[in-house]
Amino acid sequence: MSDRHRTLASDLTFTEADFRQIARHASQQYGLNIKIEKKGLIYARLARRIRTLGLPDFKAYCDLATGPRAASEAEELLSALTTNVSSFYRERHHFDALKATVLPALREKMLSGAGIRIWSAGCSAGQEPYSIAATIKGCWPDLKSNAVTILGSDVDGRILEKAQAGTYRATEVASLKPDEKDLLFEPGTRGSDVVYVRPELKEMVRFERINLVDEWRHAAPFDIIFCRNVVIYFERSTQHKLWQRFRDSLAPQGHLFIGHSERLTGPAEAQFRSTGITSFEKLAP
Ligand SMILES: C[S@@+](CC[C@H](N)C(=O)[O-])C[C@H]1O[C@@H](n2cnc3c(N)ncnc32)[C@H](O)[C@@H]1O
Repeated sequence: MSDRHRTLASDLTFTEADFRQIARHASQQYGLNIKIEKKGLIYARLARRIRTLGLPDFKAYCDLATGPRAASEAEELLSALTTNVSSFYRERHHFDALKATVLPALREKMLSGAGIRIWSAGCSAGQEPYSIAATIKGCWPDLKSNAVTILGSDVDGRILEKAQAGTYRATEVASLKPDEKDLLFEPGTRGSDVVYVRPELKEMVRFERINLVDEWRHAAPFDIIFCRNVVIYFERSTQHKLWQRFRDSLAPQGHLFIGHSERLTGPAEAQFRSTGITSFEKLAP
C-alpha cells in the first residue's frame, strides 16, 4: 500500500505505476518532464474528472486517456498536465525592449510593406500575443492591417478558445496601468466584470494549435519569437532541440525572448547574442 496516494477514505487509488504511465505519455506526446513531486497536483486536477466519468481508479483513467482511442479525454488530460498561468505584459522588460530597440529597428521593414512576422509560442490564453499587439499599436498607431502578423500558438486547444475569444475577467487585468488598458481593451467594457480585447488587436493575431515537439507546418522566418515559460517544463534534450529550431525559424538578426527562469542551452547558445534580460538576437552564420 506504500505507493498509493491515499489521504481520505473515499480517495481514488493512484499508484506509482499509474503516475509513470501519465508521465511517459506527457513526455512522448508533448515533451513534458513531469516529476514525481507533481503526483499530488495531478491527483487534485484529475480526481473530480475520474469520478464524473464513473471510473473506479486512476488505472482505468490512464488506460482511457492515454490509449489509442483517447480522443477528447486526451484533451482533458493535457489540460491537467499543463500550466497555463500567464498575464498581460508579463516580464515587462521584454515589452520595454520591444518599444525601445526592437520595433524601431524594424520600422523600415514595416514601412516598406514587407510584413513583420512575430510568433508567440506557448501563448496560453492570449495575454502574451495581445500584449505584443498592443505594444506595436502604441508605437505605430497608424499601422496598416497586415503590416504585422502575430501567430499565437499553444498545444492546448481549450486555452486557445479563450485566447481567440479575447475576453477576460476585470479582476485578471486589475493591476494594469490605465494607458495599457486603453490600448488593450474596448472602451465600453471598462468598469464592467469583463473586458474585451480591441478588434484591431484581434485582427493582428492569428491563433493556431501547434505542439512544439511536432513538426511545424507554418512558414518561417519570423522577425521575433516569444517562447516564454514553456520550455522550462520540457526535458533537457527537447530544450536543446527547440532552441535550435527557433534559431532556424528566425530571420537574420531576429529576436528571441525566453522566460525568466529559462536559459539558452545546447548548440543554439553560441548562435545568439544577449541583448538584455533573457532576450537574444540571432547572429549571422
Ligand atoms: C506557463 S504558460 C506560458 C504562457 C506565456 N508564454 C507566458 O509566459 O505568460 C505555458 C504554456 O505552454 C503550453 N505548452 C506546454 N507544452 C506545450 C507543447 N508541447 N507545445 C506547445 N505548447 C505547450 C501550455 O499549454 C501553456 O499554455
